[in-house]
Amino acid sequence: NTIYLCDYTPPAYLVEKVDLTFHLSPEKTRVISRIAFKPNPASQSGDFFLHGEDLTLLRASIDGQPVTPDVTDQGLTCAVPDAPFVWEAEVHINPAANTALEGLYMSNGMYCTQCEAEGFRKITYYPDRPDVMAPFTVRINGPHPVLLSNGNPAGAGDGWAEWHDPWPKPAYLFALVAGDLVAHPDTFTTRSGRHVDLNIWVRPGDEDKCAFGMEALKASMTWDEQVYGREYDLDVFNIVAVDDFNMGAMENKGLNVFNSSCVLASPETSTDMNFERIEAIIAHEYFHNWTGNRITCRDWFQLCLKEGLTVFRDSQFTADMRSAPVKRISDVIALRGRQFREDNGPLAHPVRPASFVEINNFYTATIYEKGAELIGMLKRLVGDDAYDRALDLYFDRHDGDAATIEDWLTVFQDATGRDLTQFKRWYEQAGTPRLSVTEEFADGTYTLTFEQHTPATPGQPDKGPQVIPIAVGLLNPNGDEVVPTTVLEMTEAKQGFTFDGLTARPIPSILRDFSAPVIVQRDTTNAERAFLLAHDTDPFKKWEAGRDLARDVLIRMVRDGAAPDDGYLSAMHAMLRDDTADPAFRALALGLPSQDDIAQTLYDTGTTPDPQAIWDAGQTLRQALAQQMQDTLPRLYAQHQVTDLYRPDAAQSGNRALANAALSLLTRLDGGAQAQRQYDAADNMTQQLAAWGCLLQAGKGDQATAAFYDQWRHDRLVIDKWFSLQVVHADPSQAVETCAALTDHPDFNWKNPNRFRATLGALAMSPAAFHRADGAGYALLADWLIRLDPLNPQTTARMCSAFETWSRHDTTRQAHARAALKRILATQGLSRDTTEMVGRILG
Ligand code: ARG
Ligand code: ZN
Repeated sequence: NTIYLCDYTPPAYLVEKVDLTFHLSPEKTRVISRIAFKPNPASQSGDFFLHGEDLTLLRASIDGQPVTPDVTDQGLTCAVPDAPFVWEAEVHINPAANTALEGLYMSNGMYCTQCEAEGFRKITYYPDRPDVMAPFTVRINGPHPVLLSNGNPAGAGDGWAEWHDPWPKPAYLFALVAGDLVAHPDTFTTRSGRHVDLNIWVRPGDEDKCAFGMEALKASMTWDEQVYGREYDLDVFNIVAVDDFNMGAMENKGLNVFNSSCVLASPETSTDMNFERIEAIIAHEYFHNWTGNRITCRDWFQLCLKEGLTVFRDSQFTADMRSAPVKRISDVIALRGRQFREDNGPLAHPVRPASFVEINNFYTATIYEKGAELIGMLKRLVGDDAYDRALDLYFDRHDGDAATIEDWLTVFQDATGRDLTQFKRWYEQAGTPRLSVTEEFADGTYTLTFEQHTPATPGQPDKGPQVIPIAVGLLNPNGDEVVPTTVLEMTEAKQGFTFDGLTARPIPSILRDFSAPVIVQRDTTNAERAFLLAHDTDPFKKWEAGRDLARDVLIRMVRDGAAPDDGYLSAMHAMLRDDTADPAFRALALGLPSQDDIAQTLYDTGTTPDPQAIWDAGQTLRQALAQQMQDTLPRLYAQHQVTDLYRPDAAQSGNRALANAALSLLTRLDGGAQAQRQYDAADNMTQQLAAWGCLLQAGKGDQATAAFYDQWRHDRLVIDKWFSLQVVHADPSQAVETCAALTDHPDFNWKNPNRFRATLGALAMSPAAFHRADGAGYALLADWLIRLDPLNPQTTARMCSAFETWSRHDTTRQAHARAALKRILATQGLSRDTTEMVGRILG
């Protein structure tokens, strides 16, 4: 069942226009399609095939004459004229029974759709592939006050509404929403004067959580005009919040559908991090209007064409709206946490995969986040002006196209004259390159020699050298920068770069701004790391120096039983007391590398990681930090309290982040007294949740846990946090039991993906608990994945990646994990999604 990129063939028929009529009914929705087809001159084949799944075909006709197609569970074939013709069909579908949340389904009584990647085929028979684009007219009949589809309104009356989308689009961008919804309205005028009606549609009761999302939308629209010269192209832009949703959000043309957790926000119910994420996702989906919709993908292998570019654009937007260094550091933390982990395990795949079984399994950190890093490298290599020119050419040349990575790279070649043949390897080779560095200094000349090596990944034993932009700066031993940031362009497997005219041996600052998604391996000392933490002018490297220090300290604690390193403790203390540094930066710098990062580093250096020992070392180190800083913490905590009216902006968020980081350490000294005071006084979720987390960690959370539930039992998104935090902050020896007990709670609605992820996903994200030596973590997750799979394969398959690091552990843990995975695989009728994931994980 594997699909290969190299097997691509153009569609046999193109669609000139689509008319759809829906008669909504929960168990029997009638869908009437009228589709104008014409043979594709670019195709050899005359075979007429329409995708279709879980459909009941009632009738079909061609040019008005009834036909009897050959129907399978994948779709239908039919004899057709060798000339343009009109296909008509009527099908029944059952939205109420659609628990997979693909196609047309119901959530709390409202109808909604999710068609990317291949959900439209569950709505009607259609060539459900992204290279078939057409204008759509949609008529919805239903008793609901709000009836929405893509494009512009084209008429409405009692029990019906019609929509017309003039922009040709693939079926995956189709959307329909119907329900008892209320709007948070606004307007936007584009720079050429188009008046656009904006709406965020929510269930009654959620109206007060829309204002922030609306501001983010307007900011995104302005930003895309100013930075990319891209204007909106319809008269309306609708966003709908849906409670049951497999992913974050979806960029359907003119009708974005959002997981309610990714759009609804208020200071009382959302944390600063929630606000920032919502702003970014609104921007991301809006930016897709050009990078995804106006220019779409030829086939699903090209997914990174729209996702990598759109993630890159939303990161630029966040950097502009907030703090660029903080955004860059946060992105690197996320990349290492999710994408490096993926790239170093059995699920590693290229940014543009060459094959897949189920495309839904490829909405991954590699395609999204590494895909965005490739755009960043390209921009760094060609320069900002050339990047702008290339993007203008891309929009010019490919507007209305279903494009490929080759098209994208050709645009850059044509705009800049640069040969990108070698750069393309970044799209084709999986795995994280290791970049080792040696240095020499003699007679004022300093030489940095780099060697690159990418480990084997599934199906790719050998890799060629890649183009690596290495941003480097050099510092003098007195802390002055002697060579400002310079981008070295590495193309060989081994390559040296020299710097002349130096008076002393410099301290190098390598891979500034994280200029390439690689792992730098260099022998260095903790004294040098502390020096860079104090003096580097590049904020990312400054942060990275602290991170490297902490990693080294933790590794020695876990591996050699060393004590917390004094050099590290005093370097951190100095960093924290530097009031000239951004509080948000200091909060980030105080964080420790993830447990997974430590495990991977140990594994890479020949030590089998013990998740419990890694957790213990983290606890010991945090305790030592708290002790070291005991005089500073109360002052720091007080100094960064925000007294102004709550605003989720970068400045206030940074202060709260630093105060809460201080509170967490303080709790290790005062047993939770300050945390309890903060919990009792909190008037925003950032403060409340941080305080409750501290209390849970200190084992003093019971009272707050009960109070939190009583206060928020009516708010499903806050109750997701209630489920999640209890697992996250449980002692690893108890987290499995805590998680299992929560699955017995009356509010544990396991059919809701948000609630399922909040509970079981939280376990999967707690390494010491999930990888418990007796296998209880694996067994609990496997039980629930087996239960969820028949209802919702997509969410089940995604959560299987919790197991992706299984084979780096000891043989006892490996045996437990293998048994759990095999038990999943042996389940009768297991979905294609989950079968592919477990199969790949087992290797
Ligand atoms: N295109 C969406 C986004 O990144 C994600 C939708 C993915 N959906 C899915 N079923 N795989 O904004
Ligand atoms: Zn996207």
